[in-house]
Amino acid sequence: MRVAKLDGIKLRILEMIKKLGAADAYQSRIAKELNVSRQLLTPHIKWLLKRGYIKMYLVFGQKRIALADISESLPLIAQPEIKPLHYISGNSVASGFLNRRQEAELLTSLGTMGEIPLKFAYLAEGATNWDRVGSKGDISIIQRKLIISRITQFINVLPKDSRINVVDIGCGNGAPAIMIMEELKRKGFGFAYVPLDVSRAMLDLAGERVRSKIGGLKVNKIEFDFEHGNFSDRIYDLTGEGEINLLLFLGNTLGNQSDRNRVLTNFKESMSSKDFLIVANELTNVARTARIVAHYNNKDVSDLVYLTAARIGIGRADTVYDVSWNERLYQVEMCMVLKKNMEIKIGSGRVSLEKGERILLARSKKFTEWAFTKLLSKAGFRTVLFASNEDDSYVLSMLQPTRYTN
Ligand SMILES: C[S@@+](CC[C@H](N)C(=O)[O-])C[C@H]1O[C@@H](n2cnc3c(N)ncnc32)[C@H](O)[C@@H]1O
Repeated sequence: MRVAKLDGIKLRILEMIKKLGAADAYQSRIAKELNVSRQLLTPHIKWLLKRGYIKMYLVFGQKRIALADISESLPLIAQPEIKPLHYISGNSVASGFLNRRQEAELLTSLGTMGEIPLKFAYLAEGATNWDRVGSKGDISIIQRKLIISRITQFINVLPKDSRINVVDIGCGNGAPAIMIMEELKRKGFGFAYVPLDVSRAMLDLAGERVRSKIGGLKVNKIEFDFEHGNFSDRIYDLTGEGEINLLLFLGNTLGNQSDRNRVLTNFKESMSSKDFLIVANELTNVARTARIVAHYNNKDVSDLVYLTAARIGIGRADTVYDVSWNERLYQVEMCMVLKKNMEIKIGSGRVSLEKGERILLARSKKFTEWAFTKLLSKAGFRTVLFASNEDDSYVLSMLQPTRYTN
């Protein structure tokens, strides 16, 4: 373990977790044993969690903490009632809008990282909020212009006469994919549309919109959370008759992810060597940050990012909305700051939040051209074609998986 690099309090926390064991290591107990307040403890626990030193588990809906390196063997050494979080499975709807697994994810993320995952904001009626942002938002307009100006070059890379499955990952309302498919049609390619999204409502919206624009098209919807692993089993079979999968990951969705490398690895593991991936994301440099932050400080975006908070009982009036640029992480952060203490119930679990706590509702990571290319190459992709707009503020990159080399 990297324990030697940790400062005093973090080291003491780890030692206490080890001493108490997984069944008894919960935050208020650790605080009591170390004779410090919970308030003081929380940021250190979050820090340790974020960097993988510790893991969280649910025991009868209550959070317990274990050291990461013993967590794999936890089911063997812990008391019988302890269940690692990932044992909570199934798609049964447990709250109004989330299934059990999503509830567990929201509880852990909110309680330990102080974050509400943005992806839940697109579920059910949240699709309409995105449709508004996606139809007239600044970033969508910039993306549209870039796609229109460069799409012919991208389509020319595809092998002539091949049949294409357009796998639209995080499909939104389908609008950017429509532009790409219209070009495929002009060039005489046969193709099918395969939207993949965590939100059934987004899939339905994209399916309808695509069908209304491109008649007679086969649409094969995949409801899936791409953070949960690869989806090779869902798209490999589509290539049975020699088709090529063209994966799209558009609309700055890469920049919304907390673990971009994991998500890209999931994509890579879903692709064959003939498949292509097109990623679109905003770029930035230091001089441009004020303008970028302004894209996110408006009612349409705040309606979207606040929806999950509202669904679990945190009203806008209980908070202050704050959009800022995080210089260290090079990202826009949309946060809410609580005006009072709150006790939040999600399914069978509870989270206590304190006045003044800052909860992350969404991030939008921006890249320099160099950082963007490096991220993709580290995840195992080679760049086939790269295009940015005239002021280098948005990028469209076509990629293929690289083969293993040592
Ligand atoms: C920012 S929108 C982009 C929509 C579209 N690609 C565009 O360019 O306009 C993000 C989309 O990704 C979906 N999404 C976000 N996180 C996801 C996840 N973990 N798994 C699957 N879909 C996800 C959302 O439901 C939403 O439709």
